[in-house]
Amino acid sequence: MTKRMTLRVNNTDYDVAAAPDGLLLDALRYECGLTGAKLGCGTGDCGACTVTVDGEAVNSCLVYVPECEGKSVETVEGATTNGVGAVVAAEFLKADAVQCGFCTPGIVMSTCALLARTEPGTVTDTDIKEALAGNLCRCTGYLPILEAVRRSSEAPR
Ligand code: FES
Ligand code: FES
Repeated sequence: MTKRMTLRVNNTDYDVAAAPDGLLLDALRYECGLTGAKLGCGTGDCGACTVTVDGEAVNSCLVYVPECEGKSVETVEGATTNGVGAVVAAEFLKADAVQCGFCTPGIVMSTCALLARTEPGTVTDTDIKEALAGNLCRCTGYLPILEAVRRSSEAPR
């Protein structure tokens, strides 16, 4: 019988299956009903599944559910409801940094992780490129995304 465990996501506790090979991405999408994180490659190459675990951006297609026991997971649904995450979402819209949108939740979460570890006005383009290096976008050409993250990085944390 598969063990169950409590998965804390966006400050809410979910009772989920904790199979040793159960993926965090699947638990979020199919057990928690949080479909913001997307399955792209499934191999850690595209970043569409990015969420944060204890504040660190991770590819949820590569993280096993039991690894998250006792940790705090945040998805785009939680991150953008208020605070700096809401600013990030608004700046992405303002900068036209969203086209098909498949990459957007992951890029927003990588951005939130970057902003959580930096101070307003200190983030360089190199910092942004490094933070988003694992997130692929096939639509925008990246420049609007860069602009949106630049503007977000000025916001108070
Ligand atoms: S789906 Fe996880 S990195 Fe592509
Ligand atoms: S907006 Fe389509 S993949 Fe980025």
